[in-house]
Amino acid sequence: MLTVALSKGRLLEPSVDFLARAGLQVPEDILTSRRLIAPGAGGQYQFMLVKPMDLPTYVEYGVAAAGICGQDVLLEVAPDLHQPLDLGFGRCRLVLAAKSCEAVESHNLLSTTRVATKYPRVAERFFRSRGLPVEVVTLSGSVELAPNLGLADTIVDLVETGRTLEENGLEVLEEVAQCTARVVINRAAFHMQQEEVQRFLERLRKALP
Ligand code: PRP
Repeated sequence: MLTVALSKGRLLEPSVDFLARAGLQVPEDILTSRRLIAPGAGGQYQFMLVKPMDLPTYVEYGVAAAGICGQDVLLEVAPDLHQPLDLGFGRCRLVLAAKSCEAVESHNLLSTTRVATKYPRVAERFFRSRGLPVEVVTLSGSVELAPNLGLADTIVDLVETGRTLEENGLEVLEEVAQCTARVVINRAAFHMQQEEVQRFLERLRKALP
């Protein structure tokens, strides 16, 4: 049996839909129940639900052989995993954003001294690549509050529809990365469960648009 980890939150519903198109039936109530692990129909797969940022850890440690994970998380965690497939859904962007008025006055990156984010490594890499020293404040949610309350000058965060930025008076200054959902595979399972892993990947490949 192959254990597949799924990310809770924004990727869960599209992941379940995609798996269904690939012929892998995730139990319907997984979207509504509090169950965190459930067998798939047919007994070949079981699915577990984890927090997006924890997903690479579960797969790296082999608790799950495979997973569907956002590229934003992979950029942040940089896990040692096979990443054989870009599934194309869950498209969003990691961006640097600031308060709209400051953005309009052509915000200067040099004036950023503090950046708030759920992605500290991504933010640090971004500023380091520009040769700019910056203090990174790590938050676990509601990051858009930070510039408005003076906690930081800018944020590095995920943008999907852009609604959260807009409703909090923020504007994109720069795109840091584009992100989609990726399949990740544990390196040992890739060899030791080769047949099951290849069958799984083949099914997913066939369901790609
Ligand atoms: C994410 C992200 C933004 C928002 C962007 O947060 O960090 O806040 O979604 O989506 P949008 O562009 O479609 O508005 P999430 O919903 O995961 O909540 P959080 O603030 O608790 O992290």
